Amino acid sequence: NIRSLSSSAALRAAIKHVTVIGGGLMGAGIAQVAASTGHSVVLVDTSEDILKKATKGIEASLKRVVKKKFAEKPEDGEAFVQKVLKNISTSTDAASVVQGTDLVVEAIVENLKVKQDLFGALDKAAPQHTIFTSNTSSLPIADIASSTARLDRFGGLHFFNPVPMMKLVEVIKAPATSQQTFDVLLEFSKALGKHPVSCKDTPGFIVNRLLVPYMLEAVRLHERGHGSKEDIDVAMKLGAGYPMGPFELLDYVGLDTSKFIIDGWHEKDPDNPLFAPSPLLNKLVAEGKLGKKTGEGFYKHK
Ligand code: 3HC
Repeated sequence: NIRSLSSSAALRAAIKHVTVIGGGLMGAGIAQVAASTGHSVVLVDTSEDILKKATKGIEASLKRVVKKKFAEKPEDGEAFVQKVLKNISTSTDAASVVQGTDLVVEAIVENLKVKQDLFGALDKAAPQHTIFTSNTSSLPIADIASSTARLDRFGGLHFFNPVPMMKLVEVIKAPATSQQTFDVLLEFSKALGKHPVSCKDTPGFIVNRLLVPYMLEAVRLHERGHGSKEDIDVAMKLGAGYPMGPFELLDYVGLDTSKFIIDGWHEKDPDNPLFAPSPLLNKLVAEGKLGKKTGEGFYKHK
């Protein structure tokens, strides 16, 4: 019974079967990491095509991981890839999958109504003990959870792109999230080999609240003609030790995603200059130049 768990070993053992909803880059990465750490994972999306593409992406990413991890023994690397892939199955029927799951991680489109509808339906299908989480980067966890009757068993698990490489997970405790649920999520993050940090249910949590205004400030600095994209990127890499400059990172995260986050915050807090929209960012998004995924954003990508 999850309510009586106390030791960290017991908390960790609480999550064996994970359902990841959304086969995009984040969902596939989360499924990959959960399967790599011995969890039984079902990846859910609306079409077989998306699921096929996601599985291919996971396999390619796993191969990159093992190339480093098993550099001395490539045979063991291949065996590891096969073992991890065996831990992942796919489905287009979320409601039936969650009947046997301990944890749901949702990583679908950033649309409150769509997320609420999904969780409202899953709430009826999932067992009592199942914990629901969202990987949202911009919507309040409490708003998403409001369509369910398990507010105490609802929290946030926010991962970073590329999920297999980035060590951080933000674990979000909404006002109604129980301490028990929060502890299980912290232990689950550690079981994934990640480093969890505790966050309140506030806009952008920790990372995006600092990173998104910083990236927008870089665009504004460039818009004022105070630095080229290339110089700003080099400056932040060599002068501040960032692995990518802000324009490289915007292209990597996706200009549409970044715009969506800043627009949402601007709407709620229009006088905050940190959340001011950027004409250049808006223009690129309007032109469909969304970054690496479309082949062009601030830069052209091969
Ligand atoms: N899967 C598996 N391995 C990967 C990988 C992936 N998707 N991406 C990179 N790697 C590994 C591989 O071993 C790769 O070597 P390989 O090319 O021989 O396979 C190795 O990392 C090095 O990769 P790269 O040569 O491409 O480049 P880098 O050395 O710069 O590392 C990086 C890539 C880890 C992405 C690094 O540049 C970085 O940390 N960038 C910053 C990323 C960041 O800030 N992410 C957070 C974004 S914000 C966010 O996600 C929140 C959301 O809500 C918006």
